[in-house]
Amino acid sequence: MTGGIGLDAIRALPKAELHLHVEGTLEPQLAFALAQRNGVALPFASVEDLRARYDFTDLQSFLDLYYACMAVLRTRKDFADLAAAYLARAHADGVRHVEMFFDPQVHLGNGIDVDTVIDGLRDALDDARVRYGMTGGLILCFVRDLPVDSARAVLESVAHRAGDLIGVGLDSAEVGYPPHLFAEVYARAAELGLRRVAHAGEEGPAAYVTESLDVLGVERIDHGIRCLEDPALVERLARERIPLTVCPLSNVRLRAVDAIEAHPIRALLDAGVVATVNSDDPAYFGGYVGDNYAALALTDAEAVLLARNSIEASFASDARKAELLAALEAATR
Ligand code: ADE
Ligand code: ZN
Repeated sequence: MTGGIGLDAIRALPKAELHLHVEGTLEPQLAFALAQRNGVALPFASVEDLRARYDFTDLQSFLDLYYACMAVLRTRKDFADLAAAYLARAHADGVRHVEMFFDPQVHLGNGIDVDTVIDGLRDALDDARVRYGMTGGLILCFVRDLPVDSARAVLESVAHRAGDLIGVGLDSAEVGYPPHLFAEVYARAAELGLRRVAHAGEEGPAAYVTESLDVLGVERIDHGIRCLEDPALVERLARERIPLTVCPLSNVRLRAVDAIEAHPIRALLDAGVVATVNSDDPAYFGGYVGDNYAALALTDAEAVLLARNSIEASFASDARKAELLAALEAATR
């Protein structure tokens, strides 16, 4: 992709990343290193063989590979190493605040308890605060194609340490798993003082976006690009300033949009929606957050608006948001 603001200028903009699955930052080399460290057999011959399978036809074709690779994550240190590698990369892209998704039900299925996962990820986040001055936290995602009872159970298992989380989200296979299935689980999350977000309108219909807002009480929508099929919903998102965490390279790789040139980010911005740009699963989709901005061939003003939106849409404290907005202002003067 040529044209638009360059990667160096993008990296110089202070920004937040709000849609990032930490398991989706597992690069093939690290997957093989962890497999060896833990004596886990990966069903791929080599790093090259694994990378050659990154030719996805839809969300499910990606999820099958993504869940298979998670088997290499076994210890607190594995989770810390995984997140630390991502945080170093994000820091280089000008990310000052990150809200990181993780999928505890999948790790539980691999015999890893949720405390091991949270402790490891928190180790890396604590280190990034000291090393880079980066703020952020964790959003526990419910896997929508696993039984709702297991979502309820995992939430109860972390109730005593809800303070170690920012909030809850909903991910994995979308079509056929409408948000209302998780109404009770989200009500409990709210009771625990957790912020709420959900993937909706990635492959699923605009109605799932509306349902996430009205039934789950989410404050932010992950992806949400299919909202454009419902003009009244687009108007509502803009009016109520409900942010969308959009992931352009993911949308192209998973064929939610035909090509990066056809990506609807401008249509969302033009409609006044608080859209943000994020990397989703950067190890699998060909780029980290800076690459996602760069792929869109943005004007300088569009890139600054997206960076500002990312800060405003974050769950950082008002004081931290003000600090980051001032840093963004200083970087663009
Ligand atoms: N889990 C990881 N990436 C995802 C995506 N793009 N959509 C739904 N679930 C996911
Ligand atoms: Zn996602």
